[in-house]
Amino acid sequence: MRIITTESYQEMSLEATKIVAGQVYLKPTSVLGLATGSTPEGLYDNLVAVHRTIGLDFSEVTTFNLDEYIGMAPENPQSYHYFMHKHFFDLVNVRPENIFIPDGCAEDVPAACKAYDKLIREKGGIDLQVLGIGRNAHIGFNEPDVKFEATTHKVKLDDETIQANARFFEDEEAVPRYAISMGIKTIMLARHVILLASGPEKAEAVKKAVCGSVSPAAPASILQLHQDVTVIVDREAASMLPEEYQHGAHEIF
Ligand code: PGA
Repeated sequence: MRIITTESYQEMSLEATKIVAGQVYLKPTSVLGLATGSTPEGLYDNLVAVHRTIGLDFSEVTTFNLDEYIGMAPENPQSYHYFMHKHFFDLVNVRPENIFIPDGCAEDVPAACKAYDKLIREKGGIDLQVLGIGRNAHIGFNEPDVKFEATTHKVKLDDETIQANARFFEDEEAVPRYAISMGIKTIMLARHVILLASGPEKAEAVKKAVCGSVSPAAPASILQLHQDVTVIVDREAASMLPEEYQHGAHEIF
């Protein structure tokens, strides 16, 4: 695990952009695992800018998103389908047939989950997975639990997640209670993972992910067992880490 602590959200987004753009430049047929939420918005803005200014080509890239709310149609502005099209897919040249997001409206959710993992395998596996982190240290919608849920599955969202995500809805009641999420093994199978975090409300979760014991009670802690993870945080999100990790780049283990 490597950690890069930046001075600002913008700098965090820039470091992430270098890694994702470099991946696509070096391997135009890359399979990217993508995340939604406020954290990666700067990354998507930058990738769009790199596409427009120097023509970074996404036409052979395949993407798999981490999660989607159950019962949420793709055209619903609160859906993660909608988010991804608005912030990224509609602004670059990823081919529609290469875009995969869990189907929140699937009639048979377990079958859809199984098919999603199978499709990731058939496309050769994920080269680079982008992750945010929840205040409760979730990754994707893998909420704190007594065990790590391996494959793509249906999840019941934690109260903390519902409260955190209520800012995107009219009120807390409107936040869906269930989602489909890639599982921990699905994420761990990615060849390279970058985890982004910004702001003081993520400091505790970042500490658990980087320095805590590996436990399903803090799902992001599993990343300590991955052979190629880069954690990119701003100063505020790094504020509860040991002093030496609060500036610059470090190889942790
Ligand atoms: P956020 O969400 O980027 O909106 O903070 C991250 C997450 O919950 O994984």
